[in-house]
Amino acid sequence: MGGILVYVLLFLTTLLSYLFLRKHIREPQKRAKLPPGSMGWPYMGQTLQLYSQDPNVFFSTKQKRYGEIFKTHILGCPCVMLGSPEAARFVLVTQAHLFKPTYPKSKEKMIGPSALFFHQGDYHTRLRKLVQGSCSPTAIRNLVPDIEAIAVSALESWAGQHVVNTFHEMKKFSFDVGILSIFGHLDTYYREELKKNYSIVDKGYNSFPANLPGTAYHNAVLARKRLNDILSGIICERKEKRLLEKDLLGCLLNSKDEKGQNLTDDQIADNIIGVLFAAQDTTASVLTWILKYLHDDQELLESAEQKAIYETNNIGNQPLTWAQTRNMPFTYRVILESLRMASIISFTFREAVTDVEYKGYLIPKGWKVLPLFRNIHHNPDFFTDPQDFDPSRFEVSPKPNTFMPFGNGVHACPGNELAKLEILILIHHLVTKFKWEVVGSQSGIQYSPFPVPQHGLPASIEGYDA
Ligand code: HEM
Ligand SMILES: *[C@@H]1O[C@H](CO)[C@@H](O)[C@H](O)[C@H]1NC(C)=O
Ligand SMILES: *[C@@H]1O[C@H](CO)[C@@H](O)[C@H](O)[C@H]1NC(C)=O
Repeated sequence: MGGILVYVLLFLTTLLSYLFLRKHIREPQKRAKLPPGSMGWPYMGQTLQLYSQDPNVFFSTKQKRYGEIFKTHILGCPCVMLGSPEAARFVLVTQAHLFKPTYPKSKEKMIGPSALFFHQGDYHTRLRKLVQGSCSPTAIRNLVPDIEAIAVSALESWAGQHVVNTFHEMKKFSFDVGILSIFGHLDTYYREELKKNYSIVDKGYNSFPANLPGTAYHNAVLARKRLNDILSGIICERKEKRLLEKDLLGCLLNSKDEKGQNLTDDQIADNIIGVLFAAQDTTASVLTWILKYLHDDQELLESAEQKAIYETNNIGNQPLTWAQTRNMPFTYRVILESLRMASIISFTFREAVTDVEYKGYLIPKGWKVLPLFRNIHHNPDFFTDPQDFDPSRFEVSPKPNTFMPFGNGVHACPGNELAKLEILILIHHLVTKFKWEVVGSQSGIQYSPFPVPQHGLPASIEGYDA
């Protein structure tokens, strides 16, 4: 009986929201028609289909049926999916001003509403320059010795354990590198406080946004407030010391707009948490995939490139140099191919700020627009035998706008050079000094929320001289 009641209620709410949404989805006035595709039942049909199967299978099945542009519903929002390089470029680069970033309100609140990726226009441009400045080659080349120290100490700590969850360990690594690029050398006390409170925010971020005592979301909201207190302390101390550092905090503190206005403490805090957030899970997921690919294809490890550097550096007794990290062409191609294969950011979201026409199709104002990076990276027209892991395909540059692991246009990843640098450094030490084994079953993907190998790729690691 109760079951039937729930069913009826669910049906009614679905019907009501469908009717409600129909009123708000304005019927096209112009001659342009909506893209092909089926809208299904909002909140049901398409959404359930999306969640009950690999989302990428969902998108590519639709793309085979409808072509490069098609419409659908996700979580009650009408969407247009874009599966071609030209369409993605249209939205992210050439007509970027017509499409604004869009995130669920609960997530915006959790990270901080002033974080740059929620914004468009002058404020976005200003913040973006600051983040880019702190992640530019001139800024990050000075970080090589510190990143190296973090990588070596991470690897040694794994070697001391029986089995590690690769993804969890990579998250610690990318977090520490993030802290380094934001604050430079940060007091251990502050670092630990940030780490503990941030991990509570991280747990709550993807949980259901019910702000009731005891829920992960509620704890995360409280921890996010405590992060602001910790950051205020750090900022206060930094101001007293009057240091003109080139790290992100230094850039944010010294920034003045054309009227001579500085950023507020909240704007600074939101952008620091925003960058930590953008930097951690992304880099950690990619690193976890790289370890899997290296494990599946032992020949990759036999590459002479890293061994030669190891020997030049007096069997690892001398530090890696910036120049050496810029001259690892084989390893670099392994990273590019891993970024393509894993495509951990499978797609992104924008929202049309006005009615837009693309190739005769109408994208109505308010609809979500999703460039499908993963489908483009796995399209055989651009990458032959896309399912094969083949770093040599990057001996030739991919066609323009077909390879977008870091996005494209005004919101493309400002941290991409830092991400590649920390990956190169970790791989150098891993393959020259350690051997490792993946433990247990090796197939399967989990979404956390980016795709990573099942169970975070449990592995056991051992030093060669152990
Ligand atoms: C392998 C690791 C990484 C991948 C695959 C990645 C990927 C991306 C992608 C695809 C975007 C664009 C999203 C969109 O257009 O909606 C993006 C934006 C961003 N990334 Fe990364 N990222 C990585 C590492 C990092 C790191 C290490 C940092 C920090 C320094 C960072 C900071 C950012 C920021 C701040 C944005 C927003 C830029 C804006 O809105 O203007 N990312 N990232
Ligand atoms: C979080 O931050 C506060 C300071 O605001 C600190 O007292 C606390 O120990 C930190 N750690 C945890 C786990 O909450
Ligand atoms: C910005 O400037 C005001 C005074 O003009 C000052 O009180 C405030 O502390 C400054 N904020 C930062 C983040 O430097």
